[in-house]
Amino acid sequence: MEIIGNLPRDWWRTSTVYQVYPKSFKDTTGSGTGDIRGVTEKLDYIKGLGIDILWLQPVYVSPQNDNGYDVADYYNIDPAFGTMEDFDELVRELKRRDMHLMIDIVVNHSSTEHRWFKEAKSSRDNAYRDYYIWRDPAADGGPPNNWQSKFGGSAWQYDEGTGQYFLTLFDKTQADLNWENEKVRQEVVDLLIFWAKKGVSGFRMDVINLISKEQTFPMDDGSIPPGDGRKFYTDGPRVHEYVKELNAKVFAPYNLVTVGEMSSTTLENCIRYSNPEENEFSMTFNFHHLKVDYPNGQKWELKPYDFEELKKLLSDWQIGMQQGGGWNALFWNNHDQPRALTRFTNDGEYRNESAKLLATTLHGLQGTPYVYQGEEIGMPDPNWGDISEFRDIESLNMYEILLQKGKTPEEAAHIVKVRSRDNSRLPMLWDDSDQAGFTTGTPWIKIDERYPLINAKSQVEDPESIYHHYRLLIELRKSHKVLTDGAYDRLDEGHPQVFAYARRNTEQTLVVISNFSGEEVQFELPKRFAANLSAARSTELLLGNTEEAPELTESVKLPPYGSYMWIINTIN
Ligand code: GLC
Repeated sequence: MEIIGNLPRDWWRTSTVYQVYPKSFKDTTGSGTGDIRGVTEKLDYIKGLGIDILWLQPVYVSPQNDNGYDVADYYNIDPAFGTMEDFDELVRELKRRDMHLMIDIVVNHSSTEHRWFKEAKSSRDNAYRDYYIWRDPAADGGPPNNWQSKFGGSAWQYDEGTGQYFLTLFDKTQADLNWENEKVRQEVVDLLIFWAKKGVSGFRMDVINLISKEQTFPMDDGSIPPGDGRKFYTDGPRVHEYVKELNAKVFAPYNLVTVGEMSSTTLENCIRYSNPEENEFSMTFNFHHLKVDYPNGQKWELKPYDFEELKKLLSDWQIGMQQGGGWNALFWNNHDQPRALTRFTNDGEYRNESAKLLATTLHGLQGTPYVYQGEEIGMPDPNWGDISEFRDIESLNMYEILLQKGKTPEEAAHIVKVRSRDNSRLPMLWDDSDQAGFTTGTPWIKIDERYPLINAKSQVEDPESIYHHYRLLIELRKSHKVLTDGAYDRLDEGHPQVFAYARRNTEQTLVVISNFSGEEVQFELPKRFAANLSAARSTELLLGNTEEAPELTESVKLPPYGSYMWIINTIN
């Protein structure tokens, strides 16, 4: 094994990452928003799960139009989150616990409040003009092309002062950086090195597969849905070259763990991004499995989710990435998604079983699992009241757009309630005291009123809780090599309620069977696989989510939302 510094090269393959959305994690000042000291205060809780990497979302200086994904200064901490001393203390306290910090890097765009953008906007001749993407108006004076922002409306903003448009693929205050400009690439290298030297162990690279745009900026003819221009900048012409440059200059020399957030990507590209021989990233996030409830790929329309499609996508990526030597970041939840617990399972009567089922099903796969704050205690989507309770810029924009498209206020509010990123941004539920122990002030977004029932304190104390279920799964990843190297084999063959798969290496076979329905189900293992059972030296239940677990035989009876992980030992 290759050792760099004091760590093996691929040390993160048996790790589990915990994602902290600091604004909603823990407030130590009474301001109503969480802060860095709040994260430090809760490290023992996170360590207690067995976590070894903490992903901290952006805490840089920012006008907070997109909760920190609009960075105005890459080198300083936003006072709302604390100080650089607080950050350094977090790094020290993590190290003391043998844990690593992964920070969020947002360099597809900067805030329009960034000094570079202010300079760029000041005149066409300014030295920073070329840090951003400027184009002349179209013949009719409108935007240069028909590309759409991911948050709604045109992707171009007009600047009166200089008479040109600049590109913004997200909010109008998030200006896309011009990666064609080598000075921009050098700025990114410099800022990454600054943070690496501060002692962070890795980076989560925000929408990094969008950094290279087709330089002719063509019109999108709509022939490939959604026709919003994304085909001209997603996994764009020079993206792999740019990532390789970052790897050579920063990731490799500092032996960092890196995860690229890949928007609307392909399997082929993710293999390239994450195969170690390519020298790009450690692993990739993709979102295909979280679009199985989008009719025709449209996020702001609703349909029940397609279970078969969900299983197929997860399976295709397992097999494809394994064959291509890539590595998946595994996740159900993050700060941009409604909670999977509400979306794919039963967050009421079977909340406890469902949360454990999702955990077991995901953590049995190959890749590095990510746990998003609150997932480990089974936080569901909230019961929203009024549209005024929402804070997220995308949700608020989309509400207006849905009204313009002719939806009634009730219809528009319903869609936003189901889809909003705010669903997962509610404060962490720590205990049953006032405001769930999150703040002593007025929270920036409402607190889920179910905190007397759902909270971290009671779960830590209960050995049968969802929290301890996660703890066991995270431990198993360290103790059972088959979870890291086992070949994937899907076993449910299109069953309408069950997701079942095996992972196999030369010594062991892991079997995961999960019933995603509220009914009791009889599940037959495929004949080709059942033979393994008779040849087994021993079979052991590793984990389940009901008091009594069924035995692993050719035909298994599964209770509602029952989910189990077994290990079959195949050598003597
Ligand atoms: C990523 C972030 C999201 C943000 C967007 C623009 O998708 O996860 O929260 O709004 O990038 O930076």
